Amino acid sequence: MTTKEAVMASLNTIAVPGIPRSVVEMNLVRDIAINDHRVDVKLAAAAINKDTQDALKSQIEQMWGRLDGVTSIGVTFEEIGPIEVNNITNVIAIMSGKGGVGKSLVSGLTAIALRRQGFSVGILDADITGPSIPKMFGLNKIPEGSDNGFLPVISKTGIEVMSLNLLLPDENEAVIWRGPVIGKAIAQFWEEVLWGQLDYLIIDLPPGTADAPLTVLQRLPVAGIIIVSSPQDLATMIVKKAVSMAKLMNKTIIGVVENMSYLYVREIDKKIELFGSSKGQEMARAAGAPLIAQIPIDPELARLCDQGDIESYSSQDIERLGKFIAKTELNFPEGSLECKSCGNKCSH
Ligand SMILES: Nc1ncnc2c1ncn2[C@@H]1O[C@H](COP(=O)(O)OP(=O)(O)OP(=O)(O)O)[C@@H](O)[C@H]1O
Ligand SMILES: [Mg+2]
Repeated sequence: MTTKEAVMASLNTIAVPGIPRSVVEMNLVRDIAINDHRVDVKLAAAAINKDTQDALKSQIEQMWGRLDGVTSIGVTFEEIGPIEVNNITNVIAIMSGKGGVGKSLVSGLTAIALRRQGFSVGILDADITGPSIPKMFGLNKIPEGSDNGFLPVISKTGIEVMSLNLLLPDENEAVIWRGPVIGKAIAQFWEEVLWGQLDYLIIDLPPGTADAPLTVLQRLPVAGIIIVSSPQDLATMIVKKAVSMAKLMNKTIIGVVENMSYLYVREIDKKIELFGSSKGQEMARAAGAPLIAQIPIDPELARLCDQGDIESYSSQDIERLGKFIAKTELNFPEGSLECKSCGNKCSH
């Protein structure tokens, strides 16, 4: 006779249409009941629309032949929203205060580095008025969804992405929204996107220390922050404000990434410090956290970002960044409520 483990293993081969992740990886399985020769599977509807539900139902019903002693399978859907289903272990915010220093780039590279180590990773683009993640990853598919929410769009290497730009009919359209509406959109991306089971959710914050970063740090269970800076004096000054904000809100700073640290010119084998000497260590002292990467200005990186092919980039700096984050033990943020669904300190 079959077991729940065997049913779960079979369900793990059933991909959610439009997403190359299984119903198990998307944390949709709510219950499995085995009675004699019949198996009943209950799935969360979350952001899955009726057509997709029907497609999943018929795929799962046909699974019976693979299960020992099973002659029929029934599938039902429970009407619960994505927030009840999502199970995200670590939420990491990428923050700077200063515009244009490379937050989105570092968000993308961090996600890529973690993904290459085998983790399941998502990126929530919290830059509602200036979203740049889809462009870097070459994504333009409109997210699918139901009345309860949206499915993320999946990148070439399997990173889940949600950004307002994916939802706009024209990616060049301006979004002219005030703070409270922006805050609401970010909260919706947290609550109404089916992220499923993720090891890491990376949040790309917009510049500044006002509405959007505040919403993210107050309302989302951010376990750690990566501070992005560049060697310019002006950047150092403004980034220190972001560090103060993180500290005021009792958030753990994982480390500092200095972007545009230098330009390496191969012909003369020399590093040129275009924006002056590194301020990375100074920033790390201010943040009370280590300097975890110094990313050079790399024309190849700029080209890949413009072509939507950032996932083809590789460098030792990025590999080190991923390894450092993976070995950093992050605690679920203090003050976060225990989960209503499972009683653990998780992100439900
Ligand atoms: N180290 C680098 N080498 C080459 N190009 C870079 C580098 N860092 C950033 N860029 C380029 O600079 C641009 C700005 O970077 P990015 O969008 O990551 O900055 P940001 O801090 O997120 O900006 P914003 O404040 O507008 O959100 C990008 O188009 C990226 O391609
Ligand atoms: Mg950005």
